[in-house]
Amino acid sequence: MANLRVSLLLAFLSCGVISPSAPTDDWNQPFRPQYHFSPQSQWTNDPNGLVYFEGEYHLFFQYNPFGDEWGHMSWGHAVSNDLLHWHELPVALPEEHGVMIFTGSTVVDENNSSGFCTQGKACLVAIYTGHTPETKSQAALQTQNLAYSNDRGRTWRKYGGNPVLDLHMSDFRDPKVFWSTERKHWVMVASLPNEHKVKIYGSPDLKKWTALSEFGPAGATGGQWECPELFRLPVEGKAGEARWVMKVGVNPGARLGGSGEQYFVGRFDGKRFVNDNQATQTMWTDYGKDCYCALTFNGLPREHKPVMIGWMDNWQYAAKLPTSPWRGQMTIPRELSLRETPEGIRLVQQPIEELRALADGKTGELKTHSFRFADALPLDKGDEVGWRILMGDGKYTAIGYSIRRKVLFVDRTHSGLVGFSSDFSARLEAPLVLSGKELELKVLVDRCSIEVFADSGRVTSTNLVFPPADAMSIKAFGGAPEIRAEQIRSIH
Ligand code: FRU
Repeated sequence: MANLRVSLLLAFLSCGVISPSAPTDDWNQPFRPQYHFSPQSQWTNDPNGLVYFEGEYHLFFQYNPFGDEWGHMSWGHAVSNDLLHWHELPVALPEEHGVMIFTGSTVVDENNSSGFCTQGKACLVAIYTGHTPETKSQAALQTQNLAYSNDRGRTWRKYGGNPVLDLHMSDFRDPKVFWSTERKHWVMVASLPNEHKVKIYGSPDLKKWTALSEFGPAGATGGQWECPELFRLPVEGKAGEARWVMKVGVNPGARLGGSGEQYFVGRFDGKRFVNDNQATQTMWTDYGKDCYCALTFNGLPREHKPVMIGWMDNWQYAAKLPTSPWRGQMTIPRELSLRETPEGIRLVQQPIEELRALADGKTGELKTHSFRFADALPLDKGDEVGWRILMGDGKYTAIGYSIRRKVLFVDRTHSGLVGFSSDFSARLEAPLVLSGKELELKVLVDRCSIEVFADSGRVTSTNLVFPPADAMSIKAFGGAPEIRAEQIRSIH
């Protein structure tokens, strides 16, 4: 009897439940990512305000609620319990009185330093750039502003005393704020895009800011500097050793054209960042074309590895991507660390461990464009070795390594739709000198994106592709092993 009741209950439940692996129409358009965040509709660019608070990960994002091109910039909002399944919430910070809400960060104000928190509990404070566009009579203005929430980010109030930082400049933006345990104050890094500088400020209460120092110009100084970040990372295998990473977006002027990001490794004493390397040395966070304005989470528990999410796109063609009714998506969340290499200390990125929960373990014939694989390329078999993936209708994307030229490459010249922008079709190469006999690669594919993590995450290459609907075959070339890709279930 009890068994019958259980099976009746199960039968009842299974009728009314939509299988999580069958995406609804809202999430099944051509090229729609199945396990990466994309807004249900409209335009997104940079991730904003990443923060973990009371068991939830918050992803805010540059969002146009009114269209699928850049404009009316506001902070869209989504929450997740596992960094994979995102639940989109109403716009958190809308454009208001002609002031757009540009990129910024969110902190957990544990001790109510701001005075915004109620009922003796911690609250969330967002620090964002208010952008007033230029008019015939006035230049544009960018200032730093606050908004706060006392209900786990569900509703927000803009601070009446805004702006909290105003240099009377048209370009001064993208504040990343964190708590300095060294100096026991809040630290803000914000960019002076045209000067190629990052300004560093300190504050006891998020409201009064004092200039502490500045960094730059250094490294790549073409175009504008945007989306600065400063965070501490452990050095792999060296207990207790850590360095600070200063990351800066460059647009245009990135290594492969358009937007991209560079980083510097050094020390930070709560006031000043000192680069360990020569100012002329340029290091890139990603060697593909489509990872920009990446941001790390504030508020993670101490035992949590640092996690970063980027905008998977490039300003060169972001407005032309052939997707609808949304445009723009985020990278897979990536765990960060530093590694000592023969060239010096370098940033290392790995897809978050949690992704395992979506991998179905099946390695038969692929039925979707959402899959992953990991394998090693032999380095003793001639010159170019790798795989053609997303093959079909004469189209494919090649991922491989040139042994002679010591470069990792992702070639999307034959990947499918490429003609929407003259900047899209390209073979994207990354220098990668190897000492072993193999190159270990992890590859994530999700309908319109390919993220390659090479040599245990020392080099990443993130690129968009728009393959034909049935292009799913994979073929090895140059002596690479046949791979067995594993499907990744949809989060929708
Ligand atoms: C970078 C960026 C930021 C700015 C935002 C506006 O992609 O230009 O500097 O805050 O986008 O949407």
